[in-house]
Amino acid sequence: MIFKKERRKILARLVNWFAAFYLTLSWPLRWAAAKDNRRYQGGVLKLPLPKNEGTVSVERAIKQRRTIRAYRPQILVLDQVSQLLWTAQGITEDSGFKRAAPSAGALYPMDVYAVVGQDSVEQIEAGVYHYEPKGHSLSLVTKRDLRDSIARAALSQMWMAKAPINFVITAEYRRVAVKYGNRGIRYAMIEAGHIGQNLFLQAEALGLKAGIVGAFHDKELIEIMKIPRTHEPLLIISVGYAATV
Ligand SMILES: Cc1cc2nc3c(=O)[nH]c(=O)nc-3n(C[C@H](O)[C@H](O)[C@H](O)COP(=O)(O)O)c2cc1C
Repeated sequence: MIFKKERRKILARLVNWFAAFYLTLSWPLRWAAAKDNRRYQGGVLKLPLPKNEGTVSVERAIKQRRTIRAYRPQILVLDQVSQLLWTAQGITEDSGFKRAAPSAGALYPMDVYAVVGQDSVEQIEAGVYHYEPKGHSLSLVTKRDLRDSIARAALSQMWMAKAPINFVITAEYRRVAVKYGNRGIRYAMIEAGHIGQNLFLQAEALGLKAGIVGAFHDKELIEIMKIPRTHEPLLIISVGYAATV
């Protein structure tokens, strides 16, 4: 009888221990999942805050930068993508207007789209996303891994499809033509170059590498990505970890 009572006591203690263990361990997991859900609402993904400081000097990033055309299949983390988008078109002025790259007349005719591959970026599903500088967030445009189609539209430069993420930089000329007329087209193209170089240097500072692509069929790209016709693609920057040779 005493033996039975002892056994029941031990069993109850074990159950309590297990319950406490489960609650302690599962709480952080449930909290992280809830945080992710809050981050991803109605097709809008709120990005983590970017950093204003890094450990790689501008000089080193410029010296090391090289166009690469071979990536290894290593997943990027959300912080890296947040940092890259901020460097491309993020708002850097405390008053919340001016951006990371210069813009003629501060008219900001550029848009940045992120083409994310399947299992390529932590917490981001495969698809095409529009970067929203104001909220530092991504809005879903097209849900599918379109890297192969995009590489095909870029004269079959299939190496691009191996990069976890491709940034498509577009210009809406009318936003700048309002003030500068036809010359605005030139200004927008120059801005694309600024954004491209920012991405190159930021990738370098994050221990990543970039590739740049200007050879593609504009209309095909617009149709594949399902972006507005007025958003003319000017450059694609692929980013990821370099494949080791
Ligand atoms: C506007 C522009 C368009 C480019 N287009 C392509 C391209 O379609 N495919 C490609 O493999 N490289 C492309 N490149 C990369 C150049 O080939 C590369 O920058 C050049 O060889 C110098 O090498 P580096 O960038 O490593 O210094 C392009 C570069 C620029 C600036």
